[in-house]
Amino acid sequence: MREWIDALRRAGELVEVRAEVEPHLEITEIADRVMKAPGGGPAVLFTNVRGSRLPVLINQFGSWRRIAMALGVDRLEDLAERIETLIELQPPQGLVEKVRALGKLRELASFSARTVKEAPCQEVWLTEPDLDLLPILTCWPDDGGPFITLPLVFSHDPRTGARNCGMYRIQKLDRRTAMMHWQIHKDGASHLRDSQGRVEVAVAIGSDPVVTYAASAPLPPGIDEMMLAGFIRGKSVDMVRCRTVDVEVPATAEIVLEGYVDAHDLRPEGPFGDHTGFYTPIDDYPTFHVTGMSMRRDAIYATTIVGKPPMEDFYLGKATERIFLPLVRMSVPDLVDMNMPLEGVFHNCIVVSVRKRYPGHAKKLMNAIWGLGLLSLSRCVIVVDDDVDVQNLSDVAFRAFSNVDVGRDMLVTEGPVDALDHAAPYFAYGSKVGFDATRKWPGEGVVRPWPGEIAMSDDIRDLVDRRWQEYGLG
Ligand SMILES: Cc1cc2nc3c(=O)[nH]c(=O)nc-3n(C[C@H](O)[C@H](O)[C@H](O)COP(=O)(O)O)c2cc1C
Repeated sequence: MREWIDALRRAGELVEVRAEVEPHLEITEIADRVMKAPGGGPAVLFTNVRGSRLPVLINQFGSWRRIAMALGVDRLEDLAERIETLIELQPPQGLVEKVRALGKLRELASFSARTVKEAPCQEVWLTEPDLDLLPILTCWPDDGGPFITLPLVFSHDPRTGARNCGMYRIQKLDRRTAMMHWQIHKDGASHLRDSQGRVEVAVAIGSDPVVTYAASAPLPPGIDEMMLAGFIRGKSVDMVRCRTVDVEVPATAEIVLEGYVDAHDLRPEGPFGDHTGFYTPIDDYPTFHVTGMSMRRDAIYATTIVGKPPMEDFYLGKATERIFLPLVRMSVPDLVDMNMPLEGVFHNCIVVSVRKRYPGHAKKLMNAIWGLGLLSLSRCVIVVDDDVDVQNLSDVAFRAFSNVDVGRDMLVTEGPVDALDHAAPYFAYGSKVGFDATRKWPGEGVVRPWPGEIAMSDDIRDLVDRRWQEYGLG
């Protein structure tokens, strides 16, 4: 993360704030203004935070430029293209192709995490864990307390031993007790459900930005987020074993909390001003007991705030949207593009485009989305034809408003919804809606002849292009 901070500084993407600031609400108000500035504002390093010796890094991912820089590409699409070539499903034909395919597999395997013996994250070992040392933010006025908002939470599947790394906020209760807000659909929560009631956990705070991003990526259970990070970096992630639990953490992390999460010790967590733009109310979550704590010398505390969009997490989500598009297309090949618009806070709305080939194709796509990983939680799915740019919301709205007959083109269903969906009648269960905003075909219900869309002919457009100066219209 230090190299990353230097890179941000060199690129003019970081502002250092030396004035003393309060982790209770004040940093949020500053960061909220910065994140909502046009283009996302700069990353900010607060070097003088009241009550702690640690500097605070915030908004490290909060612009198109920085999320791309963080993942080592010029554009997020470059990464999607790399993934696309990796997962090309054509069976190799001749010998040359076979050798190339083998090379790809070998390349992927070479990105697995490596275990090292010594690590900077263990430079300072605290004989007594003490969360009070950290400048943990209390973000919003009605929050139930201070929350660690950018943690990388490592745990293992008790049945298979597979590692998971998720980003789940952690509410501090006292020096060595906190709460783990892994939601019901997340892998960490499954580990606890399948355990005998306790799961060993290690939490890393502040790391290589690729590793931090990977924690937020919705990989299927059993696939190691550290391998994804290794693939993106082009270099495997070094991990080190914790001292009090059998879990590994990234060797260069700034701060490490070791401990266990206890299913039999549930306590009221929240409220928390969430990424939905609303407070998530108090609910019971398991306790995280900290048994060990280590840091780098001069550790830096990385955090974020969530709230009404746009916030920094928008860019992390957009990275996932781009990176996972080729993977989604493996299961749903007719899906051309997807957009989770800012206002939909990811789970509330997704726009997808379809290369339509048969009646009902758009509805098939809705059902595919509702059956796919965390996308299944999407509350509203809008399907447009593949000549519509899903990123252009004005164009999408034009199709949705003009092409939908609700009696024929709207599909309502029920199922799991996001744990943060406050409009659903039940916790994590509710209804979802799909709108087929494609041109309708015969065979898709009662369809009158579909009108052509208005567009000028090419010859006249060329003519007007050529003569434009003559008209004196500027
Ligand atoms: C800044 C940020 C905070 C997040 N906080 C939480 C959280 O508190 N609880 C949760 O279940 N998911 C949270 N998420 C979403 C998860 O990190 C994401 O769904 C991830 O894929 C979960 O990992 P898993 O699939 O391994 O469970 C957060 C994401 C971001 C970017």
